[in-house]
Amino acid sequence: MSIKEIIDKENIDCDFEWQDSFVYTNSENELQKIKLEIATLNSLGFSATFSESLPLPFKTLGGICFPNQAQFHSRKYCFGLVKKLHDSFIYENSKVVDVKKEGNGYKTICDNGNFVYSTYIAICSHYPIINFPGFYFLKMYQDTSYLIAVDTKSKLFPGMYISAEEPTTSLRTAPYKDKRILLLGGSGHKTGDTSIDVNSCYRNLENYAKSLYPKCEILHRWSTEDCITLDKLPYIGKFSNLLPNVFVATGFKKWGITSSYVAANIICNQILKIQNPDSDIYRATRFAPIENGNETVNMVKQTGFSLFLNKLKAPALSFSDIKIGHGGVVNYNNTKIGIFRKSSDEIIAINPYCTHFGCELSWNELEKTWDCPCHGSRYDYTGKLLTEPSKKDLERIDLSSF
Ligand code: FES
Repeated sequence: MSIKEIIDKENIDCDFEWQDSFVYTNSENELQKIKLEIATLNSLGFSATFSESLPLPFKTLGGICFPNQAQFHSRKYCFGLVKKLHDSFIYENSKVVDVKKEGNGYKTICDNGNFVYSTYIAICSHYPIINFPGFYFLKMYQDTSYLIAVDTKSKLFPGMYISAEEPTTSLRTAPYKDKRILLLGGSGHKTGDTSIDVNSCYRNLENYAKSLYPKCEILHRWSTEDCITLDKLPYIGKFSNLLPNVFVATGFKKWGITSSYVAANIICNQILKIQNPDSDIYRATRFAPIENGNETVNMVKQTGFSLFLNKLKAPALSFSDIKIGHGGVVNYNNTKIGIFRKSSDEIIAINPYCTHFGCELSWNELEKTWDCPCHGSRYDYTGKLLTEPSKKDLERIDLSSF
């Protein structure tokens, strides 16, 4: 059953609409690739066409048009699904911290001490929280991207658009109260990348929106993290050859709704021992560092720097450089520590090394978080864990003990 069929059958109100979807470009180089891609898509039976003029408020060289694609409000859709659950339960505030083999099945242990026994497990925790076996930390990283909602105060265009160039920019519209608004996304970067000025990420999007619609009003801002695999395809299916009946779904690369639908079908079929023609494409146990040389080298370099070399470098900031409302890694009595100066008389100090594998964290000035450049774990300014794969908070440091 397709997502549309589920929405119709269950009568889920989620702003569903059909929209043409476009990949556009302004680069001659990408244009050639787009034309080749259309030929490939057509040979595979997709009805993609080339559109020379797009109804966007700026000039492009054209793009691929995928007619009649689904657009809907993913949160409303998920709530709709939850309401239709029968004889099933969702337990919130029960974070899983470990999975242990026990008899013919598994014991899943939560941070509140509760546990569940089961024969099958599906790890769908965004970034898998089990390091060994599986070794997903060797073949996946996280990427942060940004989205703003804009009231343009003027008539908007039809369709959904994403640029072929990286970092991608995406534009679409959505119903909001009694009007349609623009959703503008982009400014993506590797999570924890210290070479990025994170303060510019929203600013660039906002400036772009204002250049297109000078009278516009920015209504909302969001950021998100996505798991990216070495070959950019999700890992779906058996988690590891050493853990029978454990499945994984991760590495969706910003295509969460579509990929989670594919993952649900594959994992369900695998548990029921039904052949699924897509299983092999997404096989989660694949590992091809040579074929994906560039991504592998980048990951190894980043890990090498954050795990070893950066630790030997003296911090660029001193204790007194950190002003109220700011944070950073500093030297304090010959020890590297992370501090956030909350007020004139309150400083929160942490051990600036990730509790996953110990990479040195970077301070995210925009969101006031500690971000890990290795696999993307994040902590708030007090050191409380926000996102996996790490499972523990940062160690707090008592400055009076120095
Ligand atoms: S997330 Fe792996 S070391 Fe930080």
